[in-house]
Amino acid sequence: MNNTTDPTKLTRLHELSGLLPREIRGQSHVLPRISSVVRRGELGLTKPGRPRGSFLLLGPTGVGKTETVVVLTNQIFGAGQLFRFDMSEFQNQEALGLLLGARLGEIGYLGAVREKAAEGSLLFDEAEKAHPRVLDILLQLLDAARLTVATGQTLDFSGFYVWLTSNIGSAELMSLQHSNEATLERHVLTRAQQSLRPEIFARVNEKLVFHRLSYEHQLEIAEKFLSREIEFLASRGHALELDASTLPFLVRKGFHPKLGARPMRDAVEKLVGDAVTKCLLEGRTACGTLAVDEIRDCLVVR
Ligand SMILES: Nc1ncnc2c1ncn2[C@@H]1O[C@H](COP(=O)(O)OP(=O)(O)OP(=O)(O)O)[C@@H](O)[C@H]1O
Ligand SMILES: [Mg+2]
Repeated sequence: MNNTTDPTKLTRLHELSGLLPREIRGQSHVLPRISSVVRRGELGLTKPGRPRGSFLLLGPTGVGKTETVVVLTNQIFGAGQLFRFDMSEFQNQEALGLLLGARLGEIGYLGAVREKAAEGSLLFDEAEKAHPRVLDILLQLLDAARLTVATGQTLDFSGFYVWLTSNIGSAELMSLQHSNEATLERHVLTRAQQSLRPEIFARVNEKLVFHRLSYEHQLEIAEKFLSREIEFLASRGHALELDASTLPFLVRKGFHPKLGARPMRDAVEKLVGDAVTKCLLEGRTACGTLAVDEIRDCLVVR
């Protein structure tokens, strides 16, 4: 048997430990644990008859849980290999039929995934909201990586990573503003264990609590999106520099206490785009310093 790993796969794995912290800020306590499971999974060290790896990602909204799955799946498998299911849409009995087929001959959403791909990521958001029969399916996936669809076929999901996400226990985090991260983590894990089935909780390889984003990390995220925008504009011939007030302004506009960094990407694109558009419409080139106009509450090119 040939046990050497495909060199392209090796390169992708080597790049992962640098890529994740570059893309996902303020979560350095969980990223190495994710990389470690994925390295084992990609090197064929997972137990047979199990998914390549499984994770329960916990923590508040907009702090990078889904983004981590997106970045990682693209890096390991390329585009189009992430399959997402929002469990709030699978809360009733019919959900089972949607996932595995309701009538003879149907393969359901999961059958369709398997027809399309032999490997990738299956992401189940808001896992705790799934109907109990759907949780049975998740348990079977975690336990045996095999599911039987309405056609009678048994499908093999051992080429997939299974990701469950949940905000369980994180709403209260807002009222526990001054607790340290270790206390918050314990609180979220306890609440998740109570809400999800103990078998599910026990089966996942890693249970990880994402932290709230500190102000420093909010600034880093703003900078990440802004440098991308500036790079794009440079490729169109517009040379922009930053002023010290730009990033704090972007955090004010792009970070929301309840939504986390979710609005950041759009805020940066819109605010920088508006500033550049204004310049061009006035017949000026969009080269100069990107600064804050406090009166008009926008960015301008000076
Ligand atoms: N830690 C982070 N580093 C970089 N970008 C982030 C981070 N957290 C959030 N973002 C930005 O915010 C967007 C939304 O984050 P994401 O979808 O990962 O939230 P989530 O944690 O999955 O929240 P939810 O629990 O509501 O699903 C991302 O697409 C990304 O642009
Ligand atoms: Mg998410």
